Amino acid sequence: MTSTSAITAVDLSKAFSIPHETRGTLREHVLHPLRRTTHERNQALQEVSFEVGQGEFFGVIGPNGSGKSTLLRILAGIYAQDSGTVDVRGRLSPFIELGVGFNLELTARDNVVLTGTLLGLTRQQLDEKFDEILAFAELERFIDQKLNNFSSGMLLRLAYSIAIQVPFDILLLDEVLAVGDESFQEKCYRTLIDIRHAGKTVVLVSHNLYAVARLCERVMLLRNGVVEALGRPDEVIRAYREQEGTEDPWPAAAPAFEETKSVWEHVAGGPG
Ligand SMILES: Nc1ncnc2c1ncn2[C@@H]1O[C@H](COP(=O)(O)OP(=O)(O)OP(=O)(O)O)[C@@H](O)[C@H]1O
Ligand SMILES: [Mg+2]
Repeated sequence: MTSTSAITAVDLSKAFSIPHETRGTLREHVLHPLRRTTHERNQALQEVSFEVGQGEFFGVIGPNGSGKSTLLRILAGIYAQDSGTVDVRGRLSPFIELGVGFNLELTARDNVVLTGTLLGLTRQQLDEKFDEILAFAELERFIDQKLNNFSSGMLLRLAYSIAIQVPFDILLLDEVLAVGDESFQEKCYRTLIDIRHAGKTVVLVSHNLYAVARLCERVMLLRNGVVEALGRPDEVIRAYREQEGTEDPWPAAAPAFEETKSVWEHVAGGPG
């Protein structure tokens, strides 16, 4: 481990078990109600090793089910790995997936207070940041609505607004660009650029390869829980798209982001 690394993961492995129902006759079902399920081992991560430098913008890509969210959850301490070690240096602001960490039975107001407090805001900081969080999310009207009545995009807005307002050194982002509408996605891009300039460490999991290419300094490709490539964004993304058979056209494959291209082009010193 180098002295400037924010995250060091060595040989991380994690398996889950997949249940399989053994379908029998109704009679068997009644006689052996507990014997109906067998389990198959599903290796979600297999000896994954990597290092993220302090202030680095690090991308993680790969097909559905390749282990990206599992990895982020281990980094955030939500899951325990089966073996291997992980060392995280600095305060984490984990924006894992939608809804994780929220209590859907409570109002947006109560969730902001709860989550903000859990993530390290003092009462006074919370008072100061409260309006800012709501304003950034553009959810002032819905402050007293229970989260289970929020749309997925509204949940994302709230979660992201909280994540970037709490004090952090390392931001873990899983699919932050996935369900927001175009205007919110553009807002996210702008904050990510600011966060990058502020020298924070970011781990960005995304299927938006265009954003990954523009923002990240290095990218890791996971496939079936194994690190298949780790290196320059253009090289890793090209290899991934070739394997997936999606190499053309580029970047028209993500037309929604054409409009925001101008934003990326103003990233001084950005990659690509
Ligand atoms: N809590 C869990 N219980 C059982 N299996 C799980 C659990 N979480 C993840 N898995 C399994 O681990 C594997 C990796 O899942 P993961 O969510 O990490 O994939 P991902 O790369 O984030 O995919 P996506 O791009 O769809 O978000 C999958 O096979 C999934 O079924
Ligand atoms: Mg995922």
